[in-house]
Amino acid sequence: MSSPLIEAQGLARRFQSGDGFLEVLKNVDLRIETGDTVSIQGESGCGKSTLLNLLAGLDQPDAGKLLWESSAVTGFPNDQLAIRRARLIGMVFQSYYLVPEIRILENVMLGGRIAGKTDNLEERSNVLLERVGLADRRKSLPATLSGGERQRVAIARAMVTMPKALLADEPTGNLDEATGDSIMDMLQELCDEEGIALVLVTHNSVYAARMSHSWNLRQGILEPV
Ligand SMILES: Nc1ncnc2c1ncn2[C@@H]1O[C@H](COP(=O)(O)OP(=O)(O)OP(=O)(O)O)[C@@H](O)[C@H]1O
Ligand SMILES: [Mg+2]
Repeated sequence: MSSPLIEAQGLARRFQSGDGFLEVLKNVDLRIETGDTVSIQGESGCGKSTLLNLLAGLDQPDAGKLLWESSAVTGFPNDQLAIRRARLIGMVFQSYYLVPEIRILENVMLGGRIAGKTDNLEERSNVLLERVGLADRRKSLPATLSGGERQRVAIARAMVTMPKALLADEPTGNLDEATGDSIMDMLQELCDEEGIALVLVTHNSVYAARMSHSWNLRQGILEPV
């Protein structure tokens, strides 16, 4: 069996809430292997974004272990996590998070720079912008783009880092159905071509069913759908 790219073992996360604690994640086990496609569904507030943040090492669990490519990274200092994350993980969010002051091409290139993937960066960024249908908008500022166009830029920005796994947190959550469908097709196509594992948090059960493994997060644990 191949070694997993990302493995969660018994992850737990709680947050202070008033006088007590809100136990959001209780005991989450998950394995993401090369090329896997995985969906995570669940009610609003059940902890899906919390889980993605833990898998990406952007937050630390209160219990349990996170392994990246079979090496335990729980408790690693942030600077070391950032270096390892850059080699492994790309992220796409519901609200895009583009830098408003810089042009589209520069936004995509910035993703590569932050991840230290600077070889042929401008050329690769242009190829990706062409791929997501925005070559002619490369000099535009994010504010002049529609939501679907901004999300396509965010996908190009994640892809330019050449991740082994892409974590997408409701990437179609702010888009109409037709635009959401085209974003999903694009995400799946790009991941499939490059052999990138896709972890998709979604409220859309049709998109979830397109993944090869589907999970529901309920009461702090993952259950198969
Ligand atoms: N930093 C934090 N401090 C306190 N509570 C938090 C924090 N982050 C998340 N929570 C709480 O944890 C719960 C899970 O939040 P999370 O954002 O993971 O839910 P979600 O499943 O992604 O929801 P949605 O579908 O609405 O995006 C919520 O009740 C939220 O208020
Ligand atoms: Mg969320």
